[in-house]
Amino acid sequence: MARTVDTSTEEETIALGASFASRLRPGDVVALFGTLGTGKTRFIKGICRGLGVAVHVTSPTFTIVNQYEGRTGIVYHFDFYRLKSRSELREIGFEEYLSSGGICLVEWAEQVEAFLPARRYNVRLAHGSTDGGRRIAIEEPSAVTA
Ligand SMILES: Nc1ncnc2c1ncn2[C@@H]1O[C@H](COP(=O)(O)OP(=O)(O)OP(=O)(O)O)[C@@H](O)[C@H]1O
Ligand SMILES: [Mg+2]
Repeated sequence: MARTVDTSTEEETIALGASFASRLRPGDVVALFGTLGTGKTRFIKGICRGLGVAVHVTSPTFTIVNQYEGRTGIVYHFDFYRLKSRSELREIGFEEYLSSGGICLVEWAEQVEAFLPARRYNVRLAHGSTDGGRRIAIEEPSAVTA
């Protein structure tokens, strides 16, 4: 079952990500879905805050993946907005990251959905009816069918 939360500021989205982070364990995968500017990076910024990542978190736009050190180990932050092909996915070794034991946070999961493990958290973000409004649905791994 999905839990849906409405946020009205970016700080609220960051705070939601930070509290969500408390349930993450090494090896977990979080797939973030949602169009441009819905707050995927802000939510991940919150997750990283919750995981004790000390560095500034921004989207890995030109590198596809950023790597951080969290309290429970390595955190990988992917952004597949500019993914060109499946071969690019193979080149970066996406599958190796997924099975590395690090926590994997995946922006633009739409782009790589077929390659994601069935056991994962899905976070779906959408614009709300007001300017700063966002609707964020979090699905537990048990609710996700591959
Ligand atoms: N409730 C909210 N939650 C998150 N961000 C918000 C909210 N209200 C306004 N914003 C603004 O929306 C933008 C969200 O940017 P962010 O980079 O997190 O989105 P994104 O989904 O990662 O975008 P992209 O598709 O470009 O990767 C920021 O400029 C932020 O200030
Ligand atoms: Mg982003």
